[in-house]
Amino acid sequence: MNSPIVEIGLTDWSQAHPEPEWTRAVEAGKVLYFPKLGFQLQPQEQALLREELLKAGTRNVSLGADGLLKGAAGNEQEQQALAEMVGRFRQQALQLVDDLLPEYKGLLRLAPTSFRPKQVENRAQSVRADDRRMHVDAFPSRPNYGERILRVFTNLNPQGAPRVWRLGDDFEAVARQFMPRAKPYRLWQAKVLKALHVTKSLRSEYDHLMLQMHDLMKFDETYQKSGTQTTMPFPPGSVWVCFSDQATHAVMSGQYMMEQTLYLPPGHEVDPASSPLAILTRLAGRPLVGVGAGKAL
Ligand code: SIN
Ligand code: FE
Repeated sequence: MNSPIVEIGLTDWSQAHPEPEWTRAVEAGKVLYFPKLGFQLQPQEQALLREELLKAGTRNVSLGADGLLKGAAGNEQEQQALAEMVGRFRQQALQLVDDLLPEYKGLLRLAPTSFRPKQVENRAQSVRADDRRMHVDAFPSRPNYGERILRVFTNLNPQGAPRVWRLGDDFEAVARQFMPRAKPYRLWQAKVLKALHVTKSLRSEYDHLMLQMHDLMKFDETYQKSGTQTTMPFPPGSVWVCFSDQATHAVMSGQYMMEQTLYLPPGHEVDPASSPLAILTRLAGRPLVGVGAGKAL
């Protein structure tokens, strides 16, 4: 397997001089890794690195595109400080992506920014929700019809703990392995899920296949243990960027991370043929979204 990482020595969030190969690499499912691009905490923000600032029953603190903070516990002052910290990361992440991947300028849609104070090793969760298992990101309740999930991450750990990821084989290899095992798409089932408000809109065959890949990967013990993979410890004071619907990944350990999600409409990649939608469509041999999709099923 070729290295799933492309290292970039940038030291300043606003000084990226784009190189076309970076866009090509991220669109091929690589992780762009910036070992020297840390997020600077203000001295008073050190006190925000506490798991108790997460509201009981939530996974992350998140700052919505509307500027509203969700999932935070703590007093008003602490919540304000959290919103400021996460908001500052948002600005820097947006600037970085604009400079680094200029082809997407004006096309990206802002999604929430999250602060994740939980210790990954101790999280108890179902297999399906367990991100310590290799997967590609796919949303069960929000069909996206091939819209891309671009994510910027930074490790904030104050004790020097890396955020350890595993990175797997390229998307097409994984799709070839798991697609034959996917349950067939049924339009009537998608309609039932929508009517029951399990999904916010009609689940397309693309969304169905992405979820099937997500689940089949997570439940396959042999793949989890012996599939092609590389372990990558992202140290505190580093940043990494990937299309998380394409880069096969798992998070094994770490605590205190921030993440910015951006959505790119389908077909707006520099090389749309490298996208999960194009790859799955090619492998299926029929349209998976839009006109013509779902026929004869
Ligand atoms: C994930 O998207 O699987 C989570 C990544 C992380 O928490 O580091
Ligand atoms: Fe994930």
